[in-house]
Amino acid sequence: MTDSAKIVGWSHVPFGKLDDPDTESLMSRVSLAALEHAGVPTSEVDGIFVGVMNNGFTKQDFQGALVALADPSLAHVPATRVENACATGSTAIHTAMNFIEAGRGRIALVVGAEKMTSLPTREIGDVLLGASYYREENRPGGFVGVFGGIAKAYFERYGDRSEELAMIAAKNHHNGVSNPYAQVRKDFGVEFCNTVSDKNPYVVEPLRRTDCSLVSDGAAALVLADAETAARMKRAIGFRARVQVNDLLPISRRDPIEFKGAAMAWRKALDEAGASLDDLDLVETHDCFTIAELIEYEAMGLVPRGEGHRAIREGWTQKDGRLPVNPSGGLKAKGHPIGATGVSMHVLASMQLMNEAGDMQIADAGLAGVFNMGGASVANFVSILERER
Ligand SMILES: CC(C)(COP(=O)(O)OP(=O)(O)OC[C@H]1O[C@@H](n2cnc3c(N)ncnc32)[C@H](O)[C@@H]1OP(=O)(O)O)[C@@H](O)C(=O)NCCC(=O)NCCS
Repeated sequence: MTDSAKIVGWSHVPFGKLDDPDTESLMSRVSLAALEHAGVPTSEVDGIFVGVMNNGFTKQDFQGALVALADPSLAHVPATRVENACATGSTAIHTAMNFIEAGRGRIALVVGAEKMTSLPTREIGDVLLGASYYREENRPGGFVGVFGGIAKAYFERYGDRSEELAMIAAKNHHNGVSNPYAQVRKDFGVEFCNTVSDKNPYVVEPLRRTDCSLVSDGAAALVLADAETAARMKRAIGFRARVQVNDLLPISRRDPIEFKGAAMAWRKALDEAGASLDDLDLVETHDCFTIAELIEYEAMGLVPRGEGHRAIREGWTQKDGRLPVNPSGGLKAKGHPIGATGVSMHVLASMQLMNEAGDMQIADAGLAGVFNMGGASVANFVSILERER
């Protein structure tokens, strides 16, 4: 896909429970910084694409119109907000790429953000359930209830994998220590993650607190340019493939532990890229819960069905393993501000490819995979990224 749009600059705030009162504040911190990183003046921006899920986190909607408040010179640039549950960020990137590749503009600013922590935990759970098939999946525990059911179904079919889930949590928390943008930079270790305690209780059995991603505030932005414009930029990350595959929203209408849409997206993306998993130097994957990462090992084709545990047990997905997965610490340690997540994953993969990932760096990273999903494998996005300059 050499004519596809390229990532030419980015910005990322550290995720966490932040003082920023709202997404307007969060977006203002990354929008101009990303343009500056790309060396692009605001006058050259042809379109702004914003990813914020919201769904009740705040009464302020119309989030696409908030970015220009950071700089009035952006006031007349067409701005559009998209929403696609936890894949909102990747959806904003795809929408901006469609805009550029259709020839409607040369440069697009993509901003993903979410302010989650202003609500109490229970209300946050209810807001997040808007990304499920609410009439059937409105369970206690918010989305933890949805993935608790998935973990239970997986254990019933393939055996109890609690210890391997703890190993995934421990791996991602270990990696998160090296990530200056991560919300939690603490190396919990397998024993803590595998022990139910006051500090690590069941949230919804069999998922413990350390099996869940965090509730976070955060924002990330990136700049996309067409191939000709990107040729004069300092950085250019190309998409060897970008794919979206959807699946039916109700979990009752599909095999809950197959993640069929994810598997189809991975197959299609690798095919489009003319690559195999062995060609990838790293993957940033959507570990909203540890059981999700385990099933994603199977969906991406790293291991056969029911054998996800082997990938973590045998060390393949560790930072020094044959396919490092979530060297950033993933959603588990970095945090998961919904609308920002997909953008963040692309930014962190781009940093790796530019050899600008600091302590997170995977040596000689040349090709990276990103998997971002909305809902329980409903909107599935895979990107295969490579450095072009
Ligand atoms: C798991 C969860 C319920 C915990 O929330 P909580 O019980 O309100 O926890 P608190 O915010 O009171 O934090 C208590 C402690 O646990 C830690 N903590 C909170 N969530 C954590 C998590 N997911 N992993 C590890 N530690 C966590 C906090 O840092 C805090 O530590 P401290 O006592 O050392 O300061 C919450 O993180 C959650 O809902 N996660 C899932 C979010 C989600 O569904 N996202 C959408 C995915 S599709």
